[in-house]
Amino acid sequence: MRSRAHFKTHPIHPMLIPFPIAFIMGAFVFDLVGRLGGGAAWWTTGGFLNLGALITGPLAGVFGFIDYLYAVPPRSSGKKRATNHMMINVGTLAVVAASWFFRDLNDWQPGWLVVGLEGIAVGLVMWGGWLGGTLSFQNQIGVDHRYANAGRWSEIAVDAKPGEPVTVAKSDELEVDQMKLIRLPDGKRLVLGRTEAGYAVFDDRCPHKGGSLAGGLMTCGVVTCPWHGSQFSVRDGSVKVGPAHSPIETYRVEQSAGEIRLTL
Ligand code: FES
Repeated sequence: MRSRAHFKTHPIHPMLIPFPIAFIMGAFVFDLVGRLGGGAAWWTTGGFLNLGALITGPLAGVFGFIDYLYAVPPRSSGKKRATNHMMINVGTLAVVAASWFFRDLNDWQPGWLVVGLEGIAVGLVMWGGWLGGTLSFQNQIGVDHRYANAGRWSEIAVDAKPGEPVTVAKSDELEVDQMKLIRLPDGKRLVLGRTEAGYAVFDDRCPHKGGSLAGGLMTCGVVTCPWHGSQFSVRDGSVKVGPAHSPIETYRVEQSAGEIRLTL
């Protein structure tokens, strides 16, 4: 399976994110102005914006959850940040739903409780948005930061069993210095890399804070983590440059009949 999509979030996710943010903030402003004397036109608009947040928020959340499962490296500092981002956004939607629940639907006039809840939702959505931005700018989730000649993003899911060789690529599938992500059934991720000296398979997880080495840079048999620059030999897994202290694990790989076979 080949695609360019791994480091970009699901294409629908970033397209949907602005809607609930705008609706949540707009609902608060329009209801507040309505309560402060603006009148029914303002709070009716606020009510519709509140409803808009309730419709678009879960939709954005579905695609965010897909990114949470597939784009954010497992067991990483980014995963913890993504979990907090998700929990805060779910909490935001719960507060938005509560503000809708307490609105008087006869004339849509919001009480101060509703306006207060909407204000809390604004604070929460800003907090969740800041974490989402950090996931992009710091953890590079959704950023295509790969190097020249890295080739198209490539990954495969295999059902590898200990001791049994499994095909992970065709012999000519990768150019020298290109990598391919291998997903195992237990959620573990490995990387197949092609060096001048042949193929190598190693852990995708950087032991420093869990960055995905498949998204890093590989050259001259050394892979560089995209998050803080640790470098590892892809042959024996040894650390060449920190901040990582621990080596990565490497695995047996052989070429046969035009295929690359991995044995765990
Ligand atoms: S996660 Fe920090 S160097 Fe890899």
